Amino acid sequence: MTTESERHEGDGGHGGTLPTVAELATEARSVLEAAWRDDSAGGFCVPNPATYPWQWLWDSCFHAIVWAHLGDERAVVELRTALSAQDADGFVPHLRYGDGPHPHAALWGRPGASTITQPPMYGHAVAELVRLGVAVDGDTIDRAGRGLRFLLGRRRRSPAGLVELCHPWESGCDDSPRWDDTVPGGRTPDAWFACKGDLIGRIERTAGGAPLHNPDFAVGSVGFSALVAWNARQLAAVTGDDRLRGQAAGLAEAVEDRWDPALSTWVDDGPTSTGSGRIRTLDALLPSLLGRRSTALGQLVDPTAFGAPFGPRGVHRAEPTYDPATYWRGPAWPQLTYLLWLAATSSEDATLARTLARSMVSGAVATGFAEYWDPNTGRALGAVPQTWSTLALVIAMDST
Ligand code: GLC
Repeated sequence: MTTESERHEGDGGHGGTLPTVAELATEARSVLEAAWRDDSAGGFCVPNPATYPWQWLWDSCFHAIVWAHLGDERAVVELRTALSAQDADGFVPHLRYGDGPHPHAALWGRPGASTITQPPMYGHAVAELVRLGVAVDGDTIDRAGRGLRFLLGRRRRSPAGLVELCHPWESGCDDSPRWDDTVPGGRTPDAWFACKGDLIGRIERTAGGAPLHNPDFAVGSVGFSALVAWNARQLAAVTGDDRLRGQAAGLAEAVEDRWDPALSTWVDDGPTSTGSGRIRTLDALLPSLLGRRSTALGQLVDPTAFGAPFGPRGVHRAEPTYDPATYWRGPAWPQLTYLLWLAATSSEDATLARTLARSMVSGAVATGFAEYWDPNTGRALGAVPQTWSTLALVIAMDST
């Protein structure tokens, strides 16, 4: 851990001296404190009080990790609350409205929670909390295992064996160019918006309502599948669950087979596999978490690819769809940078991890902890502050 007196020198886009870890911790704590909401299931941080005033699944898993780094007992409370709407099949909704109000009951067909999921970051969150010496209760660990087993064992697989998404929102990368081919009539903002609502009604479900397959969005996403496999692997390392570890290994192999050396990316399976599923997005490099892939990771700091002072960019700069200022079309996203920084820390390239760490801390500080930002200029985009940008503290604390 970096000591209070050590500073992260901003030799990337920031130009100046970055805060100490202690200063960063104070700022991160104040962002999380302001976002905290007690509720009858425990409590959680809203990602942003105005733009995102409910509980999001993968956001809360990231918050739990930051709380744990702050030594705050809300780490377990937030994780437990995020898993509290899990159903009997193991499915965990991506949105919880908590004690209300419940403005989207008509969209979901029920008041308290959504009917799709998000990346199962609870496997990693449990592992991180345990690594930090936080006592995670058995019920929370059990719920995390059931959530992962639902995705690995019940969710429909694509022909190449990837875990299908039922909706673009399940990826967490809502407007990624990877989904463009699934929009009938092309990706105009109106068509995209209408399509996302209609897609919810097309999902095939278990008798209990858990989402299994969507004939209109049967995308075998390499990014989502990699996160399922990696979270299962992380959880199994803590629980010693060999069956889960085996399922994760099988999925990891299927993901690995999707590597395209000519494009230097992993290619999605299913309806987009010959089109938008080949666009070089940052989320498509998440399989780097599963093994060493220096070609994939090297692109993150290459200025002709994803590398930028406050990067990495969300989309490769040579892609026609690349737009550094538009939601999911090219800005830097802190939660993705955090995940790819983790992949870099287990690679042999220490400079790569350090460069990603600096750009993340620089971006979070320059933008006042924004939801996402322009990777070239560090201009804040989306909601400010957004709680998941406090992952910059985790990176600063865990960088050596
Ligand atoms: C946006 C993001 C999604 C996130 C949510 C709340 O919709 O695309 O990944 O969970 O905001 O932060």
